[in-house]
Amino acid sequence: MKTPKLPPFDYQPKKYRGPSADEVLRLRKEFLNPGIFLYYKKPIMLVEGKMQYVWDEHGHRYLDALGGIVTVSVGHCHPEVVDVARKQNEMLQHSTTIYLHPNIAEYARELAAKMPGELKVCYFVNSGSEANDLALLMARVYTGNYDVIALRNAYHGGNAVTMGLTAHRTWKFNVPHSFGVHHAIVPDPYRGLWGRDDVDAGKKYAADVKNLLDFATSGEVAAFIAESIQGVGGCVVFPDGYLKHVYEHVRGAGGLCIADEVQSGFGRTGTHYWGFETQGVIPDIVTMAKGIGNGCPLGAVVTTPKIAATLGQRTHFNTFGGNPVACAQGRAVLEVIEREKLQENALKIGNHILAGLNRLKEKHNLIGDVRGKGLMLGIELVKDRQSKEPAREECAQVLETCKEMGLLLGKGGLHAQTIRFSPPMCVNKQDADFLLEVLDRALSDL
Ligand SMILES: Cc1ncc(COP(=O)(O)O)c(C=O)c1O
Repeated sequence: MKTPKLPPFDYQPKKYRGPSADEVLRLRKEFLNPGIFLYYKKPIMLVEGKMQYVWDEHGHRYLDALGGIVTVSVGHCHPEVVDVARKQNEMLQHSTTIYLHPNIAEYARELAAKMPGELKVCYFVNSGSEANDLALLMARVYTGNYDVIALRNAYHGGNAVTMGLTAHRTWKFNVPHSFGVHHAIVPDPYRGLWGRDDVDAGKKYAADVKNLLDFATSGEVAAFIAESIQGVGGCVVFPDGYLKHVYEHVRGAGGLCIADEVQSGFGRTGTHYWGFETQGVIPDIVTMAKGIGNGCPLGAVVTTPKIAATLGQRTHFNTFGGNPVACAQGRAVLEVIEREKLQENALKIGNHILAGLNRLKEKHNLIGDVRGKGLMLGIELVKDRQSKEPAREECAQVLETCKEMGLLLGKGGLHAQTIRFSPPMCVNKQDADFLLEVLDRALSDL
């Protein structure tokens, strides 16, 4: 088998003149937080990006099939996004909500226009963790209840409040953080009790939420929160009808329903703009980050005027939330997704990759499951299809081999046993074929 070649791309990266990767690694070890981690045995240093590609300091090009951890939605350094950010940086870099500024107001109108139902009031923050933190506060103030239901295998952030929602030991410190949070069974059709062959799986998994409401809470809760497709947990797609049944149970207990769209929003699922729409529900609160800004620190919470009104009981302030540069960039992202038909592209290319992954599953026993929607895809690697023992080391090795061939992928799941595919939504068919060829080669090389 010959080494797959990256599709041609007409772009010359600049000559890198900064410190070497070894020097950067040394600086990281000496001056940075020891909890940060690196993906590869020989760490890769990325110094430039253009659309779906990134370059290391030696000018080697890679297809970024992880999209900067599901953050680069429309393409690295997309010219239009760069241009609006540059222009706004030259005009006014900072202002807050104590003064009027057109960007935040116009951006809020445009973002609200993307939302269904009564979801019309926007709050801007700087990250996904902050968005979920604020959503929880909102739900607690609005309902007067405290308890929250989240899902096992969820990732909602790493600050004090959201660490309590996150449900992977990997990300939880041994300090009090989950007071009032109850984690329901993850509706995982691959590993869970009810599989894809069970048409009632959604309803059956949802019954666990009802169980928690009855047995773990006073019967009254503030909220239910879930990623519309679990990302960090390894691209877990819930069975049809799951959220519909859960929302009924939770609303019956006085709670609000929060959709975490940090990874699944902005057209990535292909069929819909928001991940929750794939489940046919309308949440009360939606949280966003990552792809919303194509790489700038921007997050948002969108809710109904009625729920928002309760937060009007106190003043609300966030220094950088709604920053004019971030808002300019957010607006450009919305426009580019629309104009370049990136949601449609996510569906087309995503389906092409999905079909290829299913073919690879027939060839490689290591692939236990293939799943996902649009350009949010995953394959779970198992040592044995019967026992489903997670193939952690094999997953790490496949990522290493793919990197050597110019393909960057992601990992997910508690045991880092799931390979994740979430490239910028501007990828094309040639990229998809390259990805599949490289993956086939890496799996064959094991
Ligand atoms: C679904 C989801 N929610 C929230 C977060 C937290 O976002 P941030 O890292 O911007 O705080 C993440 C981060 O990976 C995420 O994937």
